[in-house]
Amino acid sequence: MSRRILIAGNWKMNMRAESAASLAKGIVDVVGKSPAVEVVLCPPSVYLGQVAEAVAGTPVEMGAQNLYAAEDGAFTGEVNASMLTDVGCRFVILGHSERRQLMGETDACVAKKLHAALAGNLVPIVCVGETLEEREAGDTEKVVETQIRGSLEGLDEARAANIVIAYEPVWAIGTGKTATKEQAEAVHAFIRELLGKMFSTEVAEQIRIQYGGSVKPGNAEELLSQPNIDGALVGGASLKVDDFAGIINAAP
Ligand code: G3P
Repeated sequence: MSRRILIAGNWKMNMRAESAASLAKGIVDVVGKSPAVEVVLCPPSVYLGQVAEAVAGTPVEMGAQNLYAAEDGAFTGEVNASMLTDVGCRFVILGHSERRQLMGETDACVAKKLHAALAGNLVPIVCVGETLEEREAGDTEKVVETQIRGSLEGLDEARAANIVIAYEPVWAIGTGKTATKEQAEAVHAFIRELLGKMFSTEVAEQIRIQYGGSVKPGNAEELLSQPNIDGALVGGASLKVDDFAGIINAAP
């Protein structure tokens, strides 16, 4: 089963209208008309319009960084799946460790968002990953398994193949410390095996598992060459055309 490499840029809380549009245009130029890899830009929600305009009619896709799991209504400050697809999103990042840590998102809350995303025709990119303390205590697999089982609660086999998992060890995010290709591959293989047990081997073989955490042009090739690493979720290095282009072009 060949899984198409998925490179996503998580811009987090960065950019302004003009810089968002120009970064998106720069990436569109780099990606060209028929890229070997799938490329997704995830700007802050207020700049989805600028990015949508820049990527319209190109293979570059757009994703959001979060959603609120409810239909339209009295939810001040929130944005739902229907609004995200309305402005052109195809993906949504869910359960990023920053949201888990800073906004108190739990696995149950991520699961609720996952179902809202799928119901709204968005592809959820579900983030999981251990802290340094958890890794050093030998708990990486236990933590990742708990997060995956909890965040995918209620997901049936028929829909499971449509999701993306992003393994982002918390200690590697924004720190410049990347997991080695061996460390990352070991967790990715563990995740695929787990997905096989939860759904079926066939479905597990279809689910893309991205790596995230200090991915740069210099380490992208070795990470993306691993058998169970199907892409990258990139933070800091997605904010400059040259860096992000280096990662896109490093894909095998
Ligand atoms: O979601 C991407 C992420 O958390 C990794 O960030 O800056 O380490 O590439 P960064």
